[in-house]
Amino acid sequence: MFHDNNVQTFELGNRIIITDPTAKVCFSVNSEYYKKCDLNNNNNPISKILKEQRSIHKSYDTGINKIHSVYLFITRECNLSCSFCSMRSNVKSTDVYKQKLTSEQVKRKVIPFLKTVNPHRFIVSGGEPFTNTDLCQILNNLKENFPLSDISVQTNGLLLTEQVVQTIEKSVSRLEISTAHFEDKFDQLENILSTLKRYGIDSALSFVFNQNMDSLEKVLDIAEKYNADLLLNFISPDGSALDSNMKIMSSEEKLVVYEQIAQYILDKGYNNQKFADIFFQRVRAKTGCGALSSTIVIFPDGNMYPCHSLEIPELRIGNITEDPLKLNKRMKEIYCSKFSQSLFNVKLKEPCKKCQLRFVCGGFCGANQYHGIDCDCNLQKVLLVFDLLFFDANKTMLNNLENFTNYVKDKKYIGYLAN
Ligand SMILES: C[S@@+](CC[C@H](N)C(=O)[O-])C[C@H]1O[C@@H](n2cnc3c(N)ncnc32)[C@H](O)[C@@H]1O
Ligand code: SF4
Ligand code: SF4
Repeated sequence: MFHDNNVQTFELGNRIIITDPTAKVCFSVNSEYYKKCDLNNNNNPISKILKEQRSIHKSYDTGINKIHSVYLFITRECNLSCSFCSMRSNVKSTDVYKQKLTSEQVKRKVIPFLKTVNPHRFIVSGGEPFTNTDLCQILNNLKENFPLSDISVQTNGLLLTEQVVQTIEKSVSRLEISTAHFEDKFDQLENILSTLKRYGIDSALSFVFNQNMDSLEKVLDIAEKYNADLLLNFISPDGSALDSNMKIMSSEEKLVVYEQIAQYILDKGYNNQKFADIFFQRVRAKTGCGALSSTIVIFPDGNMYPCHSLEIPELRIGNITEDPLKLNKRMKEIYCSKFSQSLFNVKLKEPCKKCQLRFVCGGFCGANQYHGIDCDCNLQKVLLVFDLLFFDANKTMLNNLENFTNYVKDKKYIGYLAN
């Protein structure tokens, strides 16, 4: 036993997993080795590793004042109407959808507030952000004021001409392009990617799986060809998908998709490290998803929340028109409130309280919990167990993928799901 309240350990297979969620440290040692180690002696090898890992992570401040990511939803307007849209941008019946953040508001209100929290990363999204004619100016303002931060834009790509790409080239590091609407016009998607490549902007293809395996394979081929990341998502119960009670796939159904896509990558021999992120996560210790420690979301009406999927009064931090100091104070109150903690802090989350994987998982989605959706996290467990017990950093991506498909086929994860 460690005599350190920050350290949590658990046994998984033949390994002891050692975590310090406050310092985001996680590593594992062989169980036999752990049992033989004299943890009362301060100089024992395991405590030494812990100390080293903590000092590596020390620069990574996890305090409330260190916001790492800011989501800036600059409009709800969209030129498409995806049935599953998490922003309900396909519902055009109310004035809400006419609200937009202007470059003037961003310059005069958003940036002065964000200067007090100094984020590392911006995700500019919507609705379709390119329908907001102030977008380029907003991006330039952000880059001027936060030159070291990464700026990504989430877009459906339909308004991306070469001229537009030229105007955002200097401010944006990455475009995340959703692909659902390119099903019968992948040439158009390829044209966009080749333009981005010419201008040195990184690209990622976001694919929402909706029983469309052929399209997923096609998008994967295109990602390989243009060296783009692939973000594989399943419809989440959010926005219009939640309103219309769309079918949400079970963990078992999602795992079949993972298995098929892994096999496709193996058959094609795509030894692309970028695809590793679909299957393997770098395991870190955590106490939540980020909503209570590192994320701020700003909506088109200027209201701010810790989570992009929960715009509810109990979580409203305030509006960007308010005094930055007042907003900072309110942010701390919201983040520390019992209500927020019960939704976002894995130590207090009802479905996760007894799960041994809780400090490496971060817990069941707080928005889904709020909406009363059952916690179906077997897929997350299957992936985490592979990362903790079977992933080998010294092997190639394809070797690990082959082991992953065997692990899934042979159901080697079965014994670990109940814990
Ligand atoms: C809401 S969209 C906004 C930006 C832009 N219009 C686009 O489509 O990329 C941001 C991302 O969320 C994804 N998305 C939307 N609704 C979703 C849902 N219910 N479940 C999972 N992903 C969803 C989209 O595919 C897209 O990649
Ligand atoms: S997912 Fe994106 S492209 Fe589709 S309706 Fe929503 S905002 Fe528009
Ligand atoms: S694996 Fe499931 S039960 Fe365990 S912490 Fe994650 S979401 Fe909660």
